[in-house]
Amino acid sequence: MSRAHIDFLLNEEKISIKDLDTNTTVLNYLRNNHELTGTKEGCASGDCGACTAVVGELKENKISYKSINTCITFLYSLHGKQLITVEHIQKNKLHPVQQSMIDSDGSQCGFCTPGIIMSMYNMYENKIKPTEENIDKFLSGNLCRCTGYLPIKNAIKNMYSYKSEKFSNNFPYPTIWPSLRPQPHSMLNPRTIA
Ligand code: FES
Ligand code: FES
Repeated sequence: MSRAHIDFLLNEEKISIKDLDTNTTVLNYLRNNHELTGTKEGCASGDCGACTAVVGELKENKISYKSINTCITFLYSLHGKQLITVEHIQKNKLHPVQQSMIDSDGSQCGFCTPGIIMSMYNMYENKIKPTEENIDKFLSGNLCRCTGYLPIKNAIKNMYSYKSEKFSNNFPYPTIWPSLRPQPHSMLNPRTIA
């Protein structure tokens, strides 16, 4: 079994794992080690999007965000990055994407909802225009089998009308990032580890 040492941010908390089993997926780590069960397991093979979370990475002094399927992402790949889960995006009030989803009736059974919320959050934080093409692109990995996509697409189209300074520009936490800059780190490549 390969082992690794990683440092990353889980939402606001700096996590250091010294003896990580490199087969550990992000999804299993969240649900088993932190009880962050808002990230759902559906297909467990990268097809349904129920397990979507967002990763922030510092690149050329800017933070870029992208969504990931946590069921097929190994935890060691988060070294030097920030993982943002659905539990974290609500502060004193709902994040604009959450409020928009509610107001557009975009959720029925709710199983897909956290994953779709995180794909919306990815769009929102990257300030992606909610054109039909962009919505299809950002939602393409998220399956919903009961609401229908019209209300969900409406939620995306309306999300920018919910403004909140709290969620713009000052997120996540730039003062923490310098200590997380990835170093050349042989431990990150599991094939180099005995
Ligand atoms: S659980 Fe379906 S994509 Fe991860
Ligand atoms: S709300 Fe039920 S699967 Fe999407």
